[in-house]
Amino acid sequence: MARGGKRKGGKTPGKAEPAGPDGDRGTGKAAGAHGTGPADLAHRPVEALTRAEAEAELARLAREIAHHDALYYQKAQPEISDADYDALRRRNEAIEARFPDLVRPDSPSRRVGAAPAAAFEKVAHRVPMLSLANAFDEEDIRDFLARIRRFLGLAEDAELAVTAEPKIDGLSISLRYEKGRLVLGATRGDGWTGENVTANVRTIDDIPGTVEAPDFPDLFEVRGEVYMEKSAFAALNARIAAEGGKVFANPRNAAAGSLRQKDPMVTAHRPLRFFAYAWGEASRVPEPTQSAMMAAFSRWGFPANPGLRLCHSAEELLAAYREFEVSRASLDYDIDGVVYKVDRLDWQARLGEVSRAPRWAIAHKFPAEKATTIVQDIEIQVGRTGALTPVARLAPVTVGGVVVQNATLHNEDEIARKDIRIGDTVVIQRAGDVIPQVLAVVKERRPEGAEPFRFPTRCPVCGSHAVREVNPKTGREDAVRRCTGGLICPAQAVERLKHFVSRDAFDIEGLGAKQIAAFFADGLVKEPADIFTLEARDRAAPEGARLADREGWGAVSARNLFAAINARRAVPLDRFVYALGIRHVGAATARLLAHAYGDFDTLARAMTEARDRESDAWRELVSIDGIGEVVADSLIEFFREPHNREALDRLLAQVTVLPVEQAESASPIAGKRVVFTGTLERMTRAEAKAMAERLGARVTGSVSRKTDYVVAGPGAGSKLAKAQELGVSVLSEEEWLALARQGG
Ligand code: IVH
Repeated sequence: MARGGKRKGGKTPGKAEPAGPDGDRGTGKAAGAHGTGPADLAHRPVEALTRAEAEAELARLAREIAHHDALYYQKAQPEISDADYDALRRRNEAIEARFPDLVRPDSPSRRVGAAPAAAFEKVAHRVPMLSLANAFDEEDIRDFLARIRRFLGLAEDAELAVTAEPKIDGLSISLRYEKGRLVLGATRGDGWTGENVTANVRTIDDIPGTVEAPDFPDLFEVRGEVYMEKSAFAALNARIAAEGGKVFANPRNAAAGSLRQKDPMVTAHRPLRFFAYAWGEASRVPEPTQSAMMAAFSRWGFPANPGLRLCHSAEELLAAYREFEVSRASLDYDIDGVVYKVDRLDWQARLGEVSRAPRWAIAHKFPAEKATTIVQDIEIQVGRTGALTPVARLAPVTVGGVVVQNATLHNEDEIARKDIRIGDTVVIQRAGDVIPQVLAVVKERRPEGAEPFRFPTRCPVCGSHAVREVNPKTGREDAVRRCTGGLICPAQAVERLKHFVSRDAFDIEGLGAKQIAAFFADGLVKEPADIFTLEARDRAAPEGARLADREGWGAVSARNLFAAINARRAVPLDRFVYALGIRHVGAATARLLAHAYGDFDTLARAMTEARDRESDAWRELVSIDGIGEVVADSLIEFFREPHNREALDRLLAQVTVLPVEQAESASPIAGKRVVFTGTLERMTRAEAKAMAERLGARVTGSVSRKTDYVVAGPGAGSKLAKAQELGVSVLSEEEWLALARQGG
């Protein structure tokens, strides 16, 4: 069978599992039983297709694969599993193999991936970034070695050294160094043209900005994988979820999404890592073998995967594969297979490439961890911001050593698309630490009378209407349905309280989600202020009805809790703002606001004034780097709502919000408002901004009368003009650095 998978993804384990509706592998297994309408063409075995049907199928597959490529490469939000994607590509290639003259000019087999999105500057790769052919079993590996021997004319007993290293599940990147300095970081894109993500790449600690080693070539492109560790991914998602944002489906998507941020500061706060494993354009390649080059990478300061092995036979390669497969679970990063590469570089050069993949390398993929189980129920959870999230309650099943009982169903469109019904047998997949997902329904096993799932249009907790908002920018309906109950919805209230006491917010020891839920259920704590009146009310309560009398509590734990609550009666402004649980205001945004406004009164006043879009307050708010209109509107809305103001007043009667401390240094920059414009030559924007903020300055994106300094580099345009017009001090980068050095 043709090998598809120019993207990634495991072999679809067709033998062991029944083919679902999305899982037709073009093998004929799922076909036949589905009638003969045009919709069933997708399920017809390749061998049974007429010429006209094959043509129609190729057109459909080209469209569908292009669609999924765009989701995967440009939005980092794939809709289908890798296995399903691979199945589509394999079907396409199988049809093409049968009808070679029907291969379309836009055939997916002629492309590596999708064209890059337009937002970042495009960069052409001087040496294309190739893809890898996939191997799925032992036979494929033996074929691979035999092909190489044949191609090079090697005798069967001639030594053929091949490296084996993990295939990192991240995204590939090319790092161009000139005279030891990093000058360009580019994504792969379609293999020929990628995106310039240099500013973002510079924020990754694993990637050296300069390389001093004497044997580092004058011009050298290091290539490798940017990835996110599983633990960091889990923490990031927890943070995003706490902020009411959209979590990433897996570490790979998180890494891709983080690298493609428009604001490098956002990337800087994302824990990205890097492994080097290849190179592109190079003025010189100092070593004769792949393995020696990997050692050189380490010497030069680039992380190289420590798992690399040098093997000399198919048996050794397969043994390495099995070892990597075993160690996979204990690694803190996702690997989705093992890559084998011919060790001798002169042989690599001779072998060259075929259809955009080197002949000298192959990716041996791991099968995805999957299992089959039954959907016992579909529950709807209501989040802090009212989002209704469907969760499948599953008959417990072990997947990759972990018992799975729940799977996220994401949203109502997802349920409809996969037609998941209560009682259905489903194929689930677990990859790394990611929440298990339902891949497909085994329709053959659907119990009689199973009804399509009706997604509620009312909140299951408070009964308010639940609606899908229309994004004013795109005009498209949000995938998420939200409860409109706001302040009256108990589910939202309890989730807001949980958020209020969470780690980045008030962080009250001994008062976690569990205790909050219990206090809320008993009416002890209904809003944040109640937490701080708990002790006084407890004292006034009759004997036997006090906290110390509750099950699981005692005098000591009650005393400890009150002490912990009292310890948080003074709270820094950023924590306070974050704790309010305003939609779109996460910890990072809260810090920006705290820094910008200094104290709570100023902030609250500004949010009221900013209702007027013509006001300075509005302009100032949206000029804060990292705060856009959506966040601004959400803030203004929060402060406009009388119930929120009242709850805030009750809370402020209990706690003191600490203003932001002025920077410790006596820097002349402290407290100043600064705008950077034009090109900086001594440091990146991100670096300049971080330095300014460290010294207590506030960096904004637009020039106003309140701006203290505009730091202008070459190419500065309208902001410089505006500064001159308003009489704002304009500094060169040098002058700025001199100022920054004073008192710092
Ligand atoms: S070598 C010319 N080595 O897999 C060969 N690729 O499916 C260049 N990948 O685009 C690739 N780990 O993003 C190589 N150890 C590894 C890898 C690796 C992950 C990715 C890379 C590549 C894709 C191909």
